[in-house]
Amino acid sequence: MALGAYELMTVHLGDRLGLYRALAGRDGTTEAELAGAAGIDERYAREWLEQQAVAGILEVDDQGADPAARRYRLPDAHAEALTDPESLAYMTPMARFAAAFGGVLPAVEDAFRTGGGVAWEDFGALGREAQAEANRPLFANLLGTEWLPAIPDVDERLRAEDSARVADVACGAGWSSIGIARAYPAVQVDGFDLDEASIELARANAAEAGVGDRVRFHVRDAGAEELAGAYHLVTVFEAIHDLSQPVAVLAAMRRLAAEDGTVLVMDERVADAFAAPGDEVERLMYTYSILCCLPAGLADTPSAATGTVMRTDTLRRYAEEAGYAGLEVLPIEHEVFRFYRLHP
Ligand SMILES: C[S@@+](CC[C@H](N)C(=O)[O-])C[C@H]1O[C@@H](n2cnc3c(N)ncnc32)[C@H](O)[C@@H]1O
Repeated sequence: MALGAYELMTVHLGDRLGLYRALAGRDGTTEAELAGAAGIDERYAREWLEQQAVAGILEVDDQGADPAARRYRLPDAHAEALTDPESLAYMTPMARFAAAFGGVLPAVEDAFRTGGGVAWEDFGALGREAQAEANRPLFANLLGTEWLPAIPDVDERLRAEDSARVADVACGAGWSSIGIARAYPAVQVDGFDLDEASIELARANAAEAGVGDRVRFHVRDAGAEELAGAYHLVTVFEAIHDLSQPVAVLAAMRRLAAEDGTVLVMDERVADAFAAPGDEVERLMYTYSILCCLPAGLADTPSAATGTVMRTDTLRRYAEEAGYAGLEVLPIEHEVFRFYRLHP
Protein backbone atom coordinates (compact mmCIF):
# COMPACT_ATOMS: atom_id res chain seq x y z
CA MET A 1 0.00 0.00 0.00
CA ALA A 2 2.78 2.44 1.01
CA LEU A 3 4.82 1.39 -2.04
CA GLY A 4 1.94 2.28 -4.36
CA ALA A 5 1.53 5.68 -2.72
CA TYR A 6 5.24 6.51 -2.88
CA GLU A 7 5.67 5.31 -6.47
CA LEU A 8 2.62 7.35 -7.47
CA MET A 9 4.43 10.45 -6.20
CA THR A 10 7.42 9.67 -8.40
CA VAL A 11 4.99 9.37 -11.34
CA HIS A 12 3.67 12.80 -10.44
CA LEU A 13 7.22 14.23 -10.56
CA GLY A 14 7.81 12.57 -13.92
CA ASP A 15 4.64 14.14 -15.25
CA ARG A 16 5.17 17.62 -13.83
CA LEU A 17 8.81 17.79 -14.88
CA GLY A 18 8.03 16.58 -18.40
CA LEU A 19 10.24 13.50 -17.99
CA TYR A 20 7.80 11.01 -19.54
CA ARG A 21 7.16 13.37 -22.45
CA ALA A 22 10.92 13.70 -22.97
CA LEU A 23 11.32 9.90 -23.00
CA ALA A 24 8.27 9.07 -25.15
CA GLY A 25 8.87 8.00 -28.73
CA ARG A 26 12.67 7.89 -28.36
CA ASP A 27 14.75 4.80 -28.90
CA GLY A 28 16.56 5.04 -25.59
CA THR A 29 17.64 8.03 -23.52
CA THR A 30 20.64 8.51 -21.23
CA GLU A 31 20.51 10.40 -17.96
CA ALA A 32 22.40 13.34 -19.53
CA GLU A 33 20.00 13.44 -22.48
CA LEU A 34 16.98 13.39 -20.16
CA ALA A 35 18.46 16.11 -17.95
CA GLY A 36 19.16 18.26 -21.02
CA ALA A 37 15.77 17.68 -22.65
CA ALA A 38 13.71 18.32 -19.50
CA GLY A 39 15.96 20.95 -17.92
CA ILE A 40 16.63 19.04 -14.70
CA ASP A 41 19.71 18.21 -12.67
CA GLU A 42 21.63 15.16 -13.94
CA ARG A 43 22.08 13.49 -10.55
CA TYR A 44 18.31 13.62 -9.97
CA ALA A 45 17.74 12.35 -13.51
CA ARG A 46 19.87 9.28 -12.74
CA GLU A 47 18.06 8.49 -9.51
CA TRP A 48 14.61 8.90 -11.07
CA LEU A 49 15.51 6.80 -14.14
CA GLU A 50 16.88 3.99 -11.95
CA GLN A 51 13.82 4.13 -9.67
CA GLN A 52 11.39 4.08 -12.61
CA ALA A 53 13.22 1.10 -14.13
CA VAL A 54 13.23 -0.76 -10.81
CA ALA A 55 9.49 -0.06 -10.54
CA GLY A 56 8.95 -1.57 -14.01
CA ILE A 57 7.74 1.65 -15.63
CA LEU A 58 10.87 2.08 -17.81
CA GLU A 59 12.95 -0.51 -19.61
CA VAL A 60 16.72 -0.38 -19.50
CA ASP A 61 18.90 -1.95 -22.19
CA ASP A 62 22.27 -2.33 -20.60
CA GLN A 63 21.89 -2.71 -16.87
CA GLY A 64 25.52 -3.62 -16.31
CA ALA A 65 26.90 -0.56 -18.12
CA ASP A 66 28.26 2.52 -16.46
CA PRO A 67 25.19 4.43 -15.12
CA ALA A 68 25.89 7.41 -17.39
CA ALA A 69 25.92 5.15 -20.46
CA ARG A 70 22.68 3.27 -19.74
CA ARG A 71 19.78 3.90 -22.11
CA TYR A 72 16.22 3.94 -20.76
CA ARG A 73 13.07 3.46 -22.79
CA LEU A 74 9.40 4.22 -22.08
CA PRO A 75 7.32 1.40 -23.66
CA ASP A 76 4.58 2.70 -25.98
CA ALA A 77 1.75 1.37 -23.80
CA HIS A 78 3.22 3.14 -20.76
CA ALA A 79 3.73 6.32 -22.80
CA GLU A 80 0.04 6.29 -23.72
CA ALA A 81 -1.02 5.99 -20.07
CA LEU A 82 1.46 8.63 -18.94
CA THR A 83 1.50 11.23 -21.74
CA ASP A 84 -1.63 11.09 -23.93
CA PRO A 85 -4.30 13.34 -22.32
CA GLU A 86 -7.10 12.13 -24.59
CA SER A 87 -6.42 8.41 -24.22
CA LEU A 88 -8.85 6.36 -22.14
CA ALA A 89 -5.73 4.77 -20.64
CA TYR A 90 -4.41 8.15 -19.36
CA MET A 91 -3.56 7.77 -15.66
CA THR A 92 -1.35 10.69 -14.57
CA PRO A 93 -4.33 12.73 -13.29
CA MET A 94 -4.59 10.15 -10.49
CA ALA A 95 -1.05 11.04 -9.40
CA ARG A 96 -1.94 14.73 -9.60
CA PHE A 97 -4.95 14.14 -7.37
CA ALA A 98 -2.69 12.45 -4.83
CA ALA A 99 -0.38 15.48 -4.85
CA ALA A 100 -3.34 17.88 -4.48
CA PHE A 101 -4.76 15.85 -1.60
CA GLY A 102 -1.34 15.81 0.10
CA GLY A 103 -1.19 19.60 -0.13
CA VAL A 104 -4.46 20.09 1.76
CA LEU A 105 -4.04 17.22 4.25
CA PRO A 106 -3.32 19.54 7.23
CA ALA A 107 -6.48 21.53 6.42
CA VAL A 108 -8.51 18.30 6.14
CA GLU A 109 -7.12 17.19 9.51
CA ASP A 110 -8.35 20.49 11.00
CA ALA A 111 -11.73 20.07 9.30
CA PHE A 112 -12.15 16.63 10.89
CA ARG A 113 -11.76 18.29 14.30
CA THR A 114 -13.91 21.36 13.69
CA GLY A 115 -16.55 20.03 11.30
CA GLY A 116 -15.56 22.78 8.86
CA GLY A 117 -14.57 22.35 5.26
CA VAL A 118 -11.80 22.91 2.72
CA ALA A 119 -12.89 24.99 -0.27
CA TRP A 120 -12.42 23.47 -3.74
CA GLU A 121 -10.21 26.48 -4.68
CA ASP A 122 -7.82 25.45 -1.88
CA PHE A 123 -7.00 22.26 -3.78
CA GLY A 124 -5.36 24.71 -6.17
CA ALA A 125 -4.24 24.25 -9.75
CA LEU A 126 -3.25 20.63 -9.05
CA GLY A 127 -6.77 19.72 -7.93
CA ARG A 128 -8.45 21.66 -10.72
CA GLU A 129 -6.22 20.15 -13.38
CA ALA A 130 -6.43 16.63 -11.95
CA GLN A 131 -10.24 16.79 -12.03
CA ALA A 132 -10.29 18.20 -15.55
CA GLU A 133 -7.70 15.80 -16.94
CA ALA A 134 -9.19 12.72 -15.25
CA ASN A 135 -12.52 13.17 -17.05
CA ARG A 136 -11.23 14.67 -20.30
CA PRO A 137 -10.66 11.32 -22.10
CA LEU A 138 -14.20 10.19 -21.22
CA PHE A 139 -15.75 13.39 -22.52
CA ALA A 140 -13.54 13.34 -25.62
CA ASN A 141 -14.12 9.68 -26.48
CA LEU A 142 -17.39 8.45 -24.96
CA LEU A 143 -19.77 11.31 -24.24
CA GLY A 144 -20.72 12.14 -27.81
CA THR A 145 -20.22 8.69 -29.34
CA GLU A 146 -21.70 6.30 -26.74
CA TRP A 147 -23.33 8.01 -23.78
CA LEU A 148 -25.56 10.64 -25.42
CA PRO A 149 -26.37 8.40 -28.43
CA ALA A 150 -27.71 5.89 -25.85
CA ILE A 151 -30.51 8.41 -25.12
CA PRO A 152 -32.13 8.42 -28.61
CA ASP A 153 -34.48 11.42 -28.24
CA VAL A 154 -31.68 13.58 -26.81
CA ASP A 155 -29.25 12.43 -29.49
CA GLU A 156 -31.79 13.22 -32.20
CA ARG A 157 -32.45 16.73 -30.86
CA LEU A 158 -28.72 17.46 -30.59
CA ARG A 159 -28.22 16.33 -34.21
CA ALA A 160 -31.00 18.58 -35.55
CA GLU A 161 -29.91 21.42 -37.78
CA ASP A 162 -31.73 24.09 -35.77
CA SER A 163 -29.18 24.50 -33.03
CA ALA A 164 -30.03 22.72 -29.81
CA ARG A 165 -29.01 24.58 -26.66
CA VAL A 166 -27.14 22.80 -23.89
CA ALA A 167 -26.48 24.07 -20.35
CA ASP A 168 -23.56 22.32 -18.63
CA VAL A 169 -23.73 23.00 -14.89
CA ALA A 170 -20.61 22.88 -12.67
CA CYS A 171 -18.62 22.41 -15.87
CA GLY A 172 -15.15 22.83 -14.32
CA ALA A 173 -12.51 23.16 -17.03
CA GLY A 174 -15.15 22.62 -19.70
CA TRP A 175 -14.20 19.30 -21.29
CA SER A 176 -17.78 17.99 -21.15
CA SER A 177 -19.11 21.12 -22.89
CA ILE A 178 -16.34 20.83 -25.47
CA GLY A 179 -16.99 17.10 -25.96
CA ILE A 180 -20.67 17.79 -26.67
CA ALA A 181 -19.87 20.62 -29.09
CA ARG A 182 -17.33 18.48 -30.95
CA ALA A 183 -19.78 15.58 -31.30
CA TYR A 184 -22.74 17.72 -32.39
CA PRO A 185 -21.66 20.47 -34.82
CA ALA A 186 -24.86 22.54 -34.55
CA VAL A 187 -25.24 22.76 -30.77
CA GLN A 188 -24.60 25.85 -28.66
CA VAL A 189 -23.35 25.17 -25.14
CA ASP A 190 -23.32 27.38 -22.05
CA GLY A 191 -21.09 26.14 -19.25
CA PHE A 192 -21.57 27.42 -15.69
CA ASP A 193 -19.18 27.14 -12.76
CA LEU A 194 -18.56 29.04 -9.57
CA ASP A 195 -14.79 28.75 -9.79
CA GLU A 196 -13.23 31.58 -11.79
CA ALA A 197 -9.95 29.77 -12.42
CA SER A 198 -11.84 26.76 -13.86
CA ILE A 199 -13.85 29.01 -16.17
CA GLU A 200 -10.66 30.72 -17.40
CA LEU A 201 -9.20 27.29 -18.14
CA ALA A 202 -12.45 26.23 -19.85
CA ARG A 203 -12.40 29.27 -22.15
CA ALA A 204 -8.79 28.55 -23.15
CA ASN A 205 -9.60 24.85 -23.70
CA ALA A 206 -12.62 25.68 -25.91
CA ALA A 207 -10.62 28.15 -27.99
CA GLU A 208 -7.83 25.60 -28.46
CA ALA A 209 -10.37 22.91 -29.42
CA GLY A 210 -11.78 25.27 -32.07
CA VAL A 211 -15.29 25.46 -30.56
CA GLY A 212 -14.96 28.82 -28.78
CA ASP A 213 -17.67 30.32 -31.01
CA ARG A 214 -20.31 27.75 -29.91
CA VAL A 215 -19.28 27.10 -26.32
CA ARG A 216 -19.45 29.92 -23.81
CA PHE A 217 -18.50 29.76 -20.16
CA HIS A 218 -19.92 31.78 -17.29
CA VAL A 219 -18.81 32.27 -13.69
CA ARG A 220 -22.13 31.55 -12.00
CA ASP A 221 -23.50 29.93 -8.89
CA ALA A 222 -25.57 27.12 -10.37
CA GLY A 223 -27.92 27.32 -7.41
CA ALA A 224 -28.80 30.99 -8.04
CA GLU A 225 -32.54 31.67 -7.92
CA GLU A 226 -32.50 33.83 -11.04
CA LEU A 227 -30.97 31.08 -13.17
CA ALA A 228 -33.53 30.06 -15.83
CA GLY A 229 -33.61 29.34 -19.54
CA ALA A 230 -34.92 27.17 -22.33
CA TYR A 231 -32.21 24.59 -22.88
CA HIS A 232 -32.88 21.33 -24.70
CA LEU A 233 -30.35 19.52 -22.54
CA VAL A 234 -29.14 20.44 -19.04
CA THR A 235 -26.23 18.37 -17.73
CA VAL A 236 -24.22 18.05 -14.57
CA PHE A 237 -21.20 15.78 -14.64
CA GLU A 238 -19.60 14.44 -11.47
CA ALA A 239 -20.58 17.41 -9.32
CA ILE A 240 -23.91 16.95 -7.50
CA HIS A 241 -22.23 15.11 -4.63
CA ASP A 242 -19.74 18.01 -4.23
CA LEU A 243 -22.34 20.72 -3.89
CA SER A 244 -23.25 22.22 -0.56
CA GLN A 245 -26.73 22.92 -1.98
CA PRO A 246 -27.55 20.04 -4.35
CA VAL A 247 -31.31 20.60 -4.13
CA ALA A 248 -31.03 24.28 -5.10
CA VAL A 249 -28.83 23.35 -8.07
CA LEU A 250 -31.18 20.57 -9.21
CA ALA A 251 -34.10 23.02 -8.94
CA ALA A 252 -32.17 25.56 -11.04
CA MET A 253 -31.48 22.83 -13.63
CA ARG A 254 -35.23 22.25 -13.83
CA ARG A 255 -35.75 25.95 -14.52
CA LEU A 256 -32.98 25.91 -17.11
CA ALA A 257 -34.63 23.09 -19.07
CA ALA A 258 -37.13 23.89 -21.82
CA GLU A 259 -40.57 22.30 -21.51
CA ASP A 260 -39.43 19.28 -23.53
CA GLY A 261 -35.85 19.56 -22.28
CA THR A 262 -33.87 16.80 -20.57
CA VAL A 263 -31.99 16.97 -17.29
CA LEU A 264 -29.05 14.56 -17.16
CA VAL A 265 -26.90 13.77 -14.12
CA MET A 266 -23.68 11.76 -14.20
CA ASP A 267 -22.33 10.77 -10.82
CA GLU A 268 -20.38 8.00 -9.17
CA ARG A 269 -21.45 4.37 -9.64
CA VAL A 270 -21.46 3.49 -5.96
CA ALA A 271 -23.31 0.56 -4.41
CA ASP A 272 -26.97 0.92 -3.48
CA ALA A 273 -26.21 0.40 0.21
CA PHE A 274 -23.25 0.45 2.57
CA ALA A 275 -21.41 -2.88 2.64
CA ALA A 276 -17.97 -3.65 4.03
CA PRO A 277 -15.52 -4.63 2.78
CA GLY A 278 -16.30 -2.96 -0.55
CA ASP A 279 -15.01 -3.37 -4.10
CA GLU A 280 -12.29 -1.14 -5.55
CA VAL A 281 -14.73 1.48 -6.89
CA GLU A 282 -16.35 1.82 -3.47
CA ARG A 283 -12.95 2.04 -1.79
CA LEU A 284 -11.79 4.67 -4.28
CA MET A 285 -14.94 6.75 -3.78
CA TYR A 286 -14.58 6.72 -0.01
CA THR A 287 -10.98 7.96 -0.30
CA TYR A 288 -12.10 10.79 -2.61
CA SER A 289 -14.82 11.59 -0.13
CA ILE A 290 -12.52 11.87 2.86
CA LEU A 291 -9.67 13.66 1.10
CA CYS A 292 -11.67 16.01 -1.12
CA CYS A 293 -15.42 15.94 -1.75
CA LEU A 294 -16.81 15.93 1.78
CA PRO A 295 -14.46 18.73 2.94
CA ALA A 296 -15.21 20.69 -0.26
CA GLY A 297 -18.97 20.29 0.29
CA LEU A 298 -18.62 21.37 3.92
CA ALA A 299 -16.75 24.56 2.99
CA ASP A 300 -20.11 26.37 2.78
CA THR A 301 -22.85 26.53 5.37
CA PRO A 302 -25.46 25.24 5.42
CA SER A 303 -24.38 22.13 3.58
CA ALA A 304 -26.04 18.85 2.61
CA ALA A 305 -22.63 17.25 3.42
CA THR A 306 -23.18 14.54 0.80
CA GLY A 307 -19.66 13.24 0.12
CA THR A 308 -18.58 11.23 -2.91
CA VAL A 309 -20.56 8.15 -1.95
CA MET A 310 -23.92 9.55 -3.08
CA ARG A 311 -26.23 6.56 -3.41
CA THR A 312 -29.09 6.47 -5.90
CA ASP A 313 -31.65 6.85 -3.09
CA THR A 314 -29.94 10.04 -1.92
CA LEU A 315 -30.06 11.56 -5.40
CA ARG A 316 -33.71 10.47 -5.72
CA ARG A 317 -34.51 12.32 -2.47
CA TYR A 318 -32.68 15.47 -3.66
CA ALA A 319 -34.57 15.30 -6.98
CA GLU A 320 -37.92 14.97 -5.20
CA GLU A 321 -37.08 17.93 -2.94
CA ALA A 322 -36.17 19.92 -6.04
CA GLY A 323 -39.63 19.22 -7.45
CA TYR A 324 -38.90 16.51 -10.03
CA ALA A 325 -41.55 13.91 -10.73
CA GLY A 326 -39.10 11.05 -11.07
CA LEU A 327 -35.58 9.73 -11.52
CA GLU A 328 -34.60 7.13 -14.09
CA VAL A 329 -31.31 5.22 -14.00
CA LEU A 330 -30.18 5.08 -17.63
CA PRO A 331 -28.86 1.83 -19.16
CA ILE A 332 -25.41 3.29 -19.84
CA GLU A 333 -22.60 1.06 -18.67
CA HIS A 334 -19.44 2.53 -17.19
CA GLU A 335 -17.15 1.14 -14.52
CA VAL A 336 -17.10 4.31 -12.43
CA PHE A 337 -20.08 6.46 -13.46
CA ARG A 338 -23.85 6.09 -13.45
CA PHE A 339 -26.27 8.20 -15.49
CA TYR A 340 -29.63 9.51 -14.35
CA ARG A 341 -32.42 11.25 -16.24
CA LEU A 342 -34.57 13.46 -14.05
CA HIS A 343 -38.18 13.89 -15.12
CA PRO A 344 -39.65 17.37 -14.51
C1 LIG B 1 -15.74 17.63 -9.17
S1 LIG B 1 -15.81 19.11 -10.08
C2 LIG B 1 -16.58 18.56 -11.61
C3 LIG B 1 -16.21 19.42 -12.77
C4 LIG B 1 -16.63 18.89 -14.15
N1 LIG B 1 -18.06 18.76 -14.29
C5 LIG B 1 -15.95 17.58 -14.49
O1 LIG B 1 -16.61 16.58 -14.71
O2 LIG B 1 -14.71 17.57 -14.52
C6 LIG B 1 -17.12 19.98 -9.29
C7 LIG B 1 -17.30 21.40 -9.83
O3 LIG B 1 -18.45 21.98 -9.19
C8 LIG B 1 -18.22 23.37 -9.13
N2 LIG B 1 -19.21 23.96 -8.20
C9 LIG B 1 -19.33 23.75 -6.88
N3 LIG B 1 -20.37 24.46 -6.39
C10 LIG B 1 -20.94 25.11 -7.44
C11 LIG B 1 -22.05 25.99 -7.59
N4 LIG B 1 -22.81 26.33 -6.55
N5 LIG B 1 -22.31 26.46 -8.83
C12 LIG B 1 -21.54 26.12 -9.89
N6 LIG B 1 -20.49 25.29 -9.80
C13 LIG B 1 -20.19 24.79 -8.60
C14 LIG B 1 -16.77 23.44 -8.68
O4 LIG B 1 -16.22 24.72 -8.89
C15 LIG B 1 -16.14 22.35 -9.55
O5 LIG B 1 -15.66 22.87 -10.76
